[in-house]
Amino acid sequence: MYAPGTTPPQGVWWKPAHRSEKIWFTIAFVWCMILFAMMPFWHLRGGQNPSGTRSTVEPTAFAERVQEFIDTYQVGEDNGIPLVEPPPGSDIYLQARMWSWTPVLRLRAGAEYTLHLSSLDVNHGFNLFPFNVNFQVVPGYDYALRVTPTEAGEFQIVCNEFCGVGHHLMVGKVIVVPADAPAAEGGDR
Ligand code: CUA
Repeated sequence: MYAPGTTPPQGVWWKPAHRSEKIWFTIAFVWCMILFAMMPFWHLRGGQNPSGTRSTVEPTAFAERVQEFIDTYQVGEDNGIPLVEPPPGSDIYLQARMWSWTPVLRLRAGAEYTLHLSSLDVNHGFNLFPFNVNFQVVPGYDYALRVTPTEAGEFQIVCNEFCGVGHHLMVGKVIVVPADAPAAEGGDR
């Protein structure tokens, strides 16, 4: 039969879809819509959102604030890094730079702190090992995160943002003592 280009050729795909195909198509479409709606919903309500506030800070000003924090609450040293034990409920500071985390924090389980995180040079990644806690540490920004340690122990902070040749050596430490542990002795408070 002569069929010009404007006449669609006949074929099996031209027959109406089978009922089961329509059902599966409907299920797939509804599922797509659920996933689509989850994106904005989870953006607003998901547990991945950082608690607390953000503000800008000059790296030099942040470094000064960290030094003040260390001078006020230092109780010792850990591998050459100042060890500080701030009181529960206080603002605590953690400074990232190529390629160290300063200071070593000794915190109390069950107490809430406001953790100020910033970098003095490039982007670093805060990863509290072995937990799934990840945060970008960006120069120029102070992320004040409300944190409450739940478990006593020694935890490592691993940098998970490539930041140069010493990246793999950039490991810090957080020590969490039980809620009823005695306060640290002396130090140069
Ligand atoms: Cu800091 Cu990688």
